[in-house]
Amino acid sequence: MQADTTRTALIIGGTGQIGVAAARRLAHDGWSVLIAHRGEHAGDAALADLDVTTIRLDRDDTESLLAHARGHDLVLDTVAYEPRHADQLARLAGDVGSLVVVSTGSVYTGADGGYLDIVTGPEDFPDFPLPLRETDPVVDNAEKTYSPLKAAMERRLLAVDDLPVSILRPGAVHGPFSPRLREWFFIKRALDRRERVVLSDDGSNRFSTSATVNLAELVALCADKPGRRVLNAVDDDALSVAEIARTVFTALDREVEIVAFPGPPIGSVGSTPWTVAHPLLLSMAAATVELGYHQPVGYADAAAAAIDWMVRAVDAADRHGGSWQRLFPALADQADTWFEYPAEDAFLAERITGR
Ligand SMILES: NC(=O)c1ccc[n+]([C@@H]2O[C@H](COP(=O)([O-])OP(=O)(O)OC[C@H]3O[C@@H](n4cnc5c(N)ncnc54)[C@H](OP(=O)(O)O)[C@@H]3O)[C@@H](O)[C@H]2O)c1
Repeated sequence: MQADTTRTALIIGGTGQIGVAAARRLAHDGWSVLIAHRGEHAGDAALADLDVTTIRLDRDDTESLLAHARGHDLVLDTVAYEPRHADQLARLAGDVGSLVVVSTGSVYTGADGGYLDIVTGPEDFPDFPLPLRETDPVVDNAEKTYSPLKAAMERRLLAVDDLPVSILRPGAVHGPFSPRLREWFFIKRALDRRERVVLSDDGSNRFSTSATVNLAELVALCADKPGRRVLNAVDDDALSVAEIARTVFTALDREVEIVAFPGPPIGSVGSTPWTVAHPLLLSMAAATVELGYHQPVGYADAAAAAIDWMVRAVDAADRHGGSWQRLFPALADQADTWFEYPAEDAFLAERITGR
């Protein structure tokens, strides 16, 4: 009798945007996938048609986490944020084929040691090496905020013997099932039939994006080639904010004029979720050399899928008496600064009519 050679994976946080894309990619490649989440985000119901099983699990329940994780060919952890999560995963040494952990590109520091968490404005925005490589300096302090904790988690993981861990550093993640899709900044303007959008810095800001479908490709490659490594995980496109805006408006078949001005945002006017005073662009050279990675999907096609998903989700919520704010509470929290139309209109009136 032939032994079953089906490879198995556990995805911690498998109903999130990265988890859904990875589950789909792996299942299409013949993997048997187990998705774990707490039960708050439903994820992609269509995955049930594939060899994908979903269980309820809080990663804080370490014994249950380890019991479900041991013995898999791949464990993908999308919700590891701090050293104690690394300590949990360290206990998988020798018991897992390949461990992939999602970190963040915000661990990098600029020339003066600054990093994203402590930015107060354009004047103290870090001047990052261009492009950022995995060997560039990362934050190393005891602050208990997002980026220092992620960096400490990375170091803790890399110090574990016999742990085949690939750490991925994405930029601004986009994909279907995102709870906070940045592209909503432009999507909503198109749906609101805004005729113009205002961008600071001549629309030239660049902040690496990361399509979940491209992250899934990297996860699959790391599963095929286990190792102990850190890899950037961003789209090759390196688009400017103006190019992102045009891409979103094109996907929605809407003509929206981009009105760009030099210099930093004026209050919220001209600012976007990708507005950075200096470029934050990550190099994909290491993934290409080490894994033979080639980006499968460009930003425009990947973003179109996320935009389509989001527009349908908001439309369905509207039809059933809901709202985008209830559907996406994390985005609703940003609404005051993202959609300050009166300030934008006042700027445009002065700029266009001289009033
Ligand atoms: N968003 C970005 O632009 C960005 C940029 C750089 C790095 N990252 C990194 O990307 C990762 C987030 O991935 P994502 O965007 O795919 O997340 P996401 O869409 O917010 O989904 C999070 C997933 O994790 C599950 N989850 C949350 N807490 C859990 C817990 N305690 N135990 C088990 N499951 C849990 C959620 O489902 P339930 O709620 O049902 O449990 C959901 O399935 C993070 O590590 C973050 O640092 C994100």
